[in-house]
Amino acid sequence: MIKFNLNNSHCFSKQDIIEKYSSKLNEVKVSLLNRTCLGNDYVGWLNWPTNEFYAKDLPIIDEVYDEWNAKGIKTVVVIGIGGSYIGIKGAIDMCTQEFHRRGMKIIYVSGLHTTYNASLLKKLERKNWGIVVISKSGTTFETAVNFRLFREKLYAKYGAEHASRIVAVTDRSKGVLKELSDKSGYRTLIIPDDIGGRYSTITPVGLMAMKLAGLNITEVLNGWKDTMDKFMNQPSTMSDAMLYAAARKELLDMGKQVEVFTTYETNLRFIGEHYKQIFAESEGKQAKCLIPTLANHSEDLHSIGQLYQEGPKNFFETTLMYKSVKGYVQIPESSFGNDDGLDKLVGKELLQLNHWIHQSVVQAHNQIPNLAIELETCDEYTCGELFAFMAIAAATGSILLGVNPFNQPGVEAYKAELKKKIK
Ligand code: PA5
Repeated sequence: MIKFNLNNSHCFSKQDIIEKYSSKLNEVKVSLLNRTCLGNDYVGWLNWPTNEFYAKDLPIIDEVYDEWNAKGIKTVVVIGIGGSYIGIKGAIDMCTQEFHRRGMKIIYVSGLHTTYNASLLKKLERKNWGIVVISKSGTTFETAVNFRLFREKLYAKYGAEHASRIVAVTDRSKGVLKELSDKSGYRTLIIPDDIGGRYSTITPVGLMAMKLAGLNITEVLNGWKDTMDKFMNQPSTMSDAMLYAAARKELLDMGKQVEVFTTYETNLRFIGEHYKQIFAESEGKQAKCLIPTLANHSEDLHSIGQLYQEGPKNFFETTLMYKSVKGYVQIPESSFGNDDGLDKLVGKELLQLNHWIHQSVVQAHNQIPNLAIELETCDEYTCGELFAFMAIAAATGSILLGVNPFNQPGVEAYKAELKKKIK
């Protein structure tokens, strides 16, 4: 379960937001459900998963999983960028334990990073590996270049058999990636036409890699579906995701310019990256939105924390926390007497100490509104809920601002410059 908490906003209560925004939120919801909002060709995520997914794509995901396990594949290189990468890492990091991963090892190849790629290409010579390449357009430069590099390496090692070690997640019919996959006999999974990149983690875009990483993807889908069902069937004012969007809008109108999205657990960092992408690419138009930024505590308390405390007060904070965790770390009795002076903590859990740090930050930042998104735990079901929460909140926030949540025309500017150089 996910709860949005406004107890430390310092400027309004949940009830204030409900009273001020209830009719606006209702209009937003009707425009999404009736497909009359801006960008209405891209609201397929509301009704995801489709019958087509269960009939066509899920069986392929299961088949690849079984076949790659039978081949003994232990390492999977996931190639993609933006919405074809960030959420996938966010989900897998959230649902697995860093040093005890159940499934195959997932390695991400996203930008054109020379040192990283050189060392990975060398390392793969000694691995039993495969590739999941993801691109909706099938033409993204960074993904295409990386696929060229890693496909060559795979082919050099496995020859004709390389084809069974590649899965391409892309458009159903168009784009270079689809064409070359059909020609070379690679399995393909469909990214639905009506779901854009940053809203697509819950489709084969993320589900293929999640399955290979050992996640229970049925539970991820259940968390997503249950959240969408509630969103569609309950009043807007009962949707915590919509209330979060409304609270952000209220803070923007009160003069805040920056949202600092804060995580206190390292396996939630990439959920933070997903938050940054989905709000920035959805709302970042016409120069009238909040700037989404990230903080990872406690590390950032010992760095940018100085500025949060004494710098300009043009920001508010949103904390993402969970109540219970997988793994359990208790402060032990010391074998060295009380030489570190920490005996008063014996028997306490790390999670509790981290909650103390969070409470102390809220108290120290007593002029800064602090919103909270509370997760029950960090399992697959909650992960599905969280992706649905973010999709509803980002779409709602964009519509409240009067912009199209589902396009990203600004991203094209650098691509146009790059094209001139490649010619
Ligand atoms: O959200 C988006 O649409 C973008 O971030 C895309 O996901 C990103 O640009 C990658 O595009 P593609 O999947 O076409 O390679």
